[in-house]
Amino acid sequence: MSLNQRIISFYNKRIWIIGASSGIGEACANAFLSHGAKVAISARRNEKLEKIKTRWPNDQCLSITADVQNYETMEMAYKAIENKWGGIDLMLYVAGIYEPMRADNFQLNQAKRMIDTNLIGAMSACSIVLPRMLENKSGGIAIVGSVAGYSGLPQALAYGPTKAALINYCETLYYDLRPKGLNVYMINPGFVETEATAKNDFEMPALISASQAAEEILDGIQAGQFDIHFPKRFSIFLKFLRLLPYPAYFYLLKKFIKI
Ligand SMILES: NC(=O)c1ccc[n+]([C@@H]2O[C@H](COP(=O)([O-])OP(=O)(O)OC[C@H]3O[C@@H](n4cnc5c(N)ncnc54)[C@H](OP(=O)(O)O)[C@@H]3O)[C@@H](O)[C@H]2O)c1
Repeated sequence: MSLNQRIISFYNKRIWIIGASSGIGEACANAFLSHGAKVAISARRNEKLEKIKTRWPNDQCLSITADVQNYETMEMAYKAIENKWGGIDLMLYVAGIYEPMRADNFQLNQAKRMIDTNLIGAMSACSIVLPRMLENKSGGIAIVGSVAGYSGLPQALAYGPTKAALINYCETLYYDLRPKGLNVYMINPGFVETEATAKNDFEMPALISASQAAEEILDGIQAGQFDIHFPKRFSIFLKFLRLLPYPAYFYLLKKFIKI
């Protein structure tokens, strides 16, 4: 069931992808660009952004260096897009960092960095783009969380809570913004092959490529879905696990997730 407006075509849609220099963000940028959208790509690594930009016509792709932990650079990025294209139709927040962490190697500074990037960064980006979208009564906010936000999982002692908070944030955003004509997309991927997961020393169940993830994201947005999760063989299993009483939950987690 679609909780948002369906999108007939991405052609000429103005999209800001935050965290587009690699992985899922880069794959989404390429996918939207190949559908004829105008895409502004931002992240910290300028050389990576420039490399993506060179593959596309100049008027279709804009690359802007911005750090989600530095509010001023984010505001400047948004202004640059407004100056060039007069605004945006969709903001896709993909920026995120993942450090595997267990209780016996808990690193408070790393945890704070994850909270700042994954959660506060998303809130900062929304605070920058929302006033204009609310004024126009149109636009979309899409945020990449993770299935790690569904419930407590091994190795995700700090990452998991940031993604759980994003799920709650998206639900509340949807409740507030949909009646005002805006679309909100909550995107929860399972394991995707990217720089972030290259550090995992275990076999990742149901691993997919970044371009497969991008395809799922574009399809979900186009269909107007709020809850975009994939790959289904993994995300539905985790959705089911979180409904169980805790003794069954912890038993099955131990049995099936060998991390
Ligand atoms: N890979 C998976 O299995 C998986 C599963 C579920 C969810 N996710 C989520 O998907 C998102 C993308 O991850 P990925 O797997 O594609 O990893 P990735 O290749 O490491 O991409 C992370 C992106 O975030 C950007 N970023 C990080 N810190 C930033 C900052 N301070 N300011 C601006 N941009 C920043 C990075 O750009 P710069 O370093 O250039 O700044 C990069 O473009 C993350 O939110 C991640 O939690 C990933």
